[in-house]
Amino acid sequence: MKIPPVKGTRDFYPSEMARRNWIVDGWKRVSVRNGFEEYDGPIFEYLKMFQVKSGDEIVEQLFSFQDRGGRDLAIRPEITPTLARMVNQQINSLPRPIKWFSVPRLCRAERPQKGRLREFFQWNIDIIGVDSPEADAEIIFTSLDYLRTAGLTSDDVRARISSRKLLAAVLGATGIPQEDFDSLYALLDKRAKLPADTFDALLAEQVSDTEQAKTIKDFMALESVEQVEEVVGAHDDVLSAAAELKGVFAALESMGVADFCVFDPGIVRGLAYYTGVVFEIHDNVGSLRAICGGGRYDNLLRDFGGPAIAATGMGMGDCVLEILLHEKGLLDSQVPRRYLEYFVAFADPRFAPAMYQTAARIRSKGHSAGFSYKQGGLSKQLKEAASQKARNCIIIGDEYNEKKHLVVKDMASGEQRVVPLDQFLAELDQD
Ligand code: HAM
Repeated sequence: MKIPPVKGTRDFYPSEMARRNWIVDGWKRVSVRNGFEEYDGPIFEYLKMFQVKSGDEIVEQLFSFQDRGGRDLAIRPEITPTLARMVNQQINSLPRPIKWFSVPRLCRAERPQKGRLREFFQWNIDIIGVDSPEADAEIIFTSLDYLRTAGLTSDDVRARISSRKLLAAVLGATGIPQEDFDSLYALLDKRAKLPADTFDALLAEQVSDTEQAKTIKDFMALESVEQVEEVVGAHDDVLSAAAELKGVFAALESMGVADFCVFDPGIVRGLAYYTGVVFEIHDNVGSLRAICGGGRYDNLLRDFGGPAIAATGMGMGDCVLEILLHEKGLLDSQVPRRYLEYFVAFADPRFAPAMYQTAARIRSKGHSAGFSYKQGGLSKQLKEAASQKARNCIIIGDEYNEKKHLVVKDMASGEQRVVPLDQFLAELDQD
């Protein structure tokens, strides 16, 4: 009986694993150089953790189950609620600001499609305890810092930035009642994915006043924060939310990534907990879903029973990123190829014990070494060394027997040198 992999999951054969490791290593390196410390949590949590504040879309996509004790649990679809729970638990002892990162494996029962799977890896960076726009800017900067390191430029990707606070202020100034905001956010978040007339019809269902609907659409079409006042007037809430957003853009300019950043009032974000600046990074061609998304969520820790502490962060999945890097020729050209430093061969089977011993000595000095399991001739062993991508081949033959000398063959140039064993081992220490 052949059992296929489950829909929306991936098998990581060594070549896929090498790609994944390269991506994850890059995320970790960029996190550390931007001052973030690594954390992790459990792969499953109480179901209610994700029902409280993640929003309907995520709740519909939960892999949930009951354990033998009748507890309702779910595999994590995101790590932000876990982060909020963990920080709340030690809130008095953690030095602030908290700048943490994680690369959790997540599961969402989505319809598998290009860039969206049911199991994926997601880089998370979050700053907790800072309510200034500079923290939002640093999250956006760090996300771009990674993408730049991976070889992408502002010709390839753009950070589209807006603010839930600004949107709420605009809706309030337009006269929309507060209780309608959440359902409007859900609709506005889908705008880019809907045909224009479908969006207009759905908006008209929620906002019957045509003047109000027009103001919302005018706002959604703006290209700069400076124009917001012209559309909705100089309301205090609008002005203060716009000033905050301008602060984010100013910080991003100082950080040297202004050419990657644009104001896009169409960015609303699907998750329910965002309260301020929100952003997504997209490929400029626009054929893929978001590479990453995040924003400010100042109420989440309080909603999980902790104190009201400002927080901002983002999540970047590995799927869209991998597709984009591949399309741009930036993946296989950069993922390190697997190789063996030394393949140890013998010229005669009677040297087999010396071959095993030499391989073990090379390994004990921290270098990779292999040998053939077959007791074949030297040319067969050299072929095997080439297929194992060995950089050097050590040949144990008569020179070893007589004077403890090894033949070291450089597999690329074909050059051979005879080296005393002690000298060879000493050279390994220097590498
Ligand atoms: P999210 O928008 O749900 O945000 O996901 C962020 C990113 O995770 C997406 O842009 C995408 O790269 C990736 N992603 C999401 N779902 C899938 C999927 N089914 N398959 C592959 N990749 C996927 C969050 O998860 C927030 N918790 C991020 C955050 C952290 N906000 C603040 N801190």
